[in-house]
Amino acid sequence: MILVTCPGGKTGRAAIAALAAAGRPVRALVRREAAAEAALRDGAAETAAGDLADAAALMRAAKGCAAIYYIAPNMDPRERALGDNVIAAAKGAGARLVFHSVLHPQLEALPHHWQRHFVEQAIIESGVPFTILQPGSYMQNMLPGWAATVESGVHRMAYDVDAPMSLVDLDDIAAAAVRVLTDERFAHGIYELAGPAITLAEKAAVLTRVLGRDIRAEKQEMDAFLKIAAGHGASDYAQLCMARMMPHYDAHGLVGSPAVLGWLLGRPPTDFETFARRVAG
Ligand SMILES: NC(=O)c1ccc[n+]([C@@H]2O[C@H](COP(=O)([O-])OP(=O)(O)OC[C@H]3O[C@@H](n4cnc5c(N)ncnc54)[C@H](OP(=O)(O)O)[C@@H]3O)[C@@H](O)[C@H]2O)c1
Repeated sequence: MILVTCPGGKTGRAAIAALAAAGRPVRALVRREAAAEAALRDGAAETAAGDLADAAALMRAAKGCAAIYYIAPNMDPRERALGDNVIAAAKGAGARLVFHSVLHPQLEALPHHWQRHFVEQAIIESGVPFTILQPGSYMQNMLPGWAATVESGVHRMAYDVDAPMSLVDLDDIAAAAVRVLTDERFAHGIYELAGPAITLAEKAAVLTRVLGRDIRAEKQEMDAFLKIAAGHGASDYAQLCMARMMPHYDAHGLVGSPAVLGWLLGRPPTDFETFARRVAG
């Protein structure tokens, strides 16, 4: 049995689907009845009630699991405390801990990366058998805005149109997660999961080709971006993280090597054009 945390986000849903397809039973950690029903529909074999902030509930949820796939909530100021709870639960259950971290957690300028680097450190020092995955930004992040992009002919993100980003297909991440979760040889490994680097301007050119209509890239102003994020319920901490992240992307992009993911998958990682054709189709 594999305990998957944060099962209702896009990462958790992809992981559960991939694990279920591989015939690996999943127990989903849920905080709400509706989330339990959704996780079972997505392919979880069973659910356990608990909040990551509730160490005792987490300990109960992990009992009998061979592994925990720890997906953390996005941009949560309690990152280190939640990480400690998961480490304790893995220790209590004698489970391997696979942490879904982030590409370049050592970036001190980005609070949500930097806090995660402390969690990685705590995991390494815990004595628990671990694997750490460090994914880049998902291609799927543009899906909520896909229809608006097609309709308006403008692909907007809040960073420079020429900043290189190693965008990665969530399906590739889920496949890599299944691989490391089900093979002990990946214990004590740290793997970055990056796709081929691409800029916003290059993405717009790909979309123009795939959709057969002009799409141009545009940098969205930070104020407008943060207002939309707040409207979608982003916390003050999440807004702070985003306000730091976008200028960092302007200056440096977020680039990793696709070689490790290619090695884990046994094929090159999905490129943006393949992803765009799949979505358009
Ligand atoms: N998006 C990217 O490009 C990207 C790239 C690299 C890494 N990541 C990482 O991927 C992770 C997952 O992101 P995501 O967008 O897929 O998911 P998400 O939207 O942050 O997660 C939503 C899920 O987390 C659950 N949740 C939130 N707080 C919880 C808590 N305290 N206890 C238990 N469950 C809790 C929610 O439960 P409810 O349904 O009850 O609210 C929901 O199921 C993040 O850590 C992010 O940093 C993302």
